[in-house]
Amino acid sequence: MALLCRSAALLCKSSRAAPLAVSAAHKYTTGGVTYDYIVVEKRGEKQNVGFIQLNRPKVLNALCDGLMLEVGKALDAFEADKDIGAVVITGSDRAFAAGADIKEMQNRTFQECYGGNFLAHWNRVSMSKKPVIAAVNGFALGGGCELAMMCDIIYAGEKAHFGQPEILLGTIPGAGGTQRLTRAVGKSLAMEMVLTGDRINAQEAKQAGLVSKVCPVDQLVPEAIKCGEKIAANSKLVSAMAKEAVNAAYELTLAEGNRLEKRLFHSTFATEDRKEGMTAFVEKRKADFQDK
Ligand code: HXC
Repeated sequence: MALLCRSAALLCKSSRAAPLAVSAAHKYTTGGVTYDYIVVEKRGEKQNVGFIQLNRPKVLNALCDGLMLEVGKALDAFEADKDIGAVVITGSDRAFAAGADIKEMQNRTFQECYGGNFLAHWNRVSMSKKPVIAAVNGFALGGGCELAMMCDIIYAGEKAHFGQPEILLGTIPGAGGTQRLTRAVGKSLAMEMVLTGDRINAQEAKQAGLVSKVCPVDQLVPEAIKCGEKIAANSKLVSAMAKEAVNAAYELTLAEGNRLEKRLFHSTFATEDRKEGMTAFVEKRKADFQDK
């Protein structure tokens, strides 16, 4: 996907080490699509990591419907881009996202929510075939925490806070919070967070298994991009199989999961990349995967 916005391309090259400071009024055009609520770029030495920055700083990246539709569009574009091997989603230093947009939800009726299957499209993030890394600085609350948990890997900045405060608004998590949080941190902590609205900090999230790495605030995005680059260096075809197998651990019984894993493992033998990977090892050279 070619960057059509020249200034964004320049920023992209010069800012690999830090999240962009971008104006909320700015529209970003990437691959023919203009975004109002997010910044979309390619990052990494080989420009093979998709980068999505949530960009509603005045409202702490509250996740309005339009923003989540744009995230879906950007993921569609990265999915179709054969050069992209992983995607990083981040926010600002202050907030990954402070939740679904409360002002947008305030006057909604049950009929509208149920009839229109309100927020069903958020699931697009968890359906991505390409690995997605959430780089969380600041608040990840409510839908923000749920968005992070829809990703495959979560890295946190030292000042990150995770929480499901919906109960304080008279509602409950509605984008997977009760399910993914419970699977990630266990029943007692998930129940406490969901029932009290209390937050946990980055270290607590790491200890509980919600995040895999805690980084200094200014190192978070570069570390996440580095992780994306490592993933992108492998076979994209086989990465998708690995991701499917790990995700199945959340859906299937152990026996069914092991059976699926075995079938996917067998399937890797139908790929040129499996042959290349093993041949490269035997020939003591670096594998050159072609995603075939
Ligand atoms: C809309 C939001 C918002 C949100 C913050 N803002 N969170 N607007 N929706 N979720 C806006 C505030 O109204 C304010 O704008 C501006 O962002 C700055 O917020 P402050 O509250 O002034 O900042 P601060 O005092 O630092 O407090 C930060 C905060 C607090 C602790 C994160 O903003 C907060 O509690 N936000 C709500 C968190 C929450 O309840 N999330 C769950 C939402 S429900 P103005 O213009 O007023 O100054 C949810 C359901 C998901 O996510 C269900 C399925 C998807």
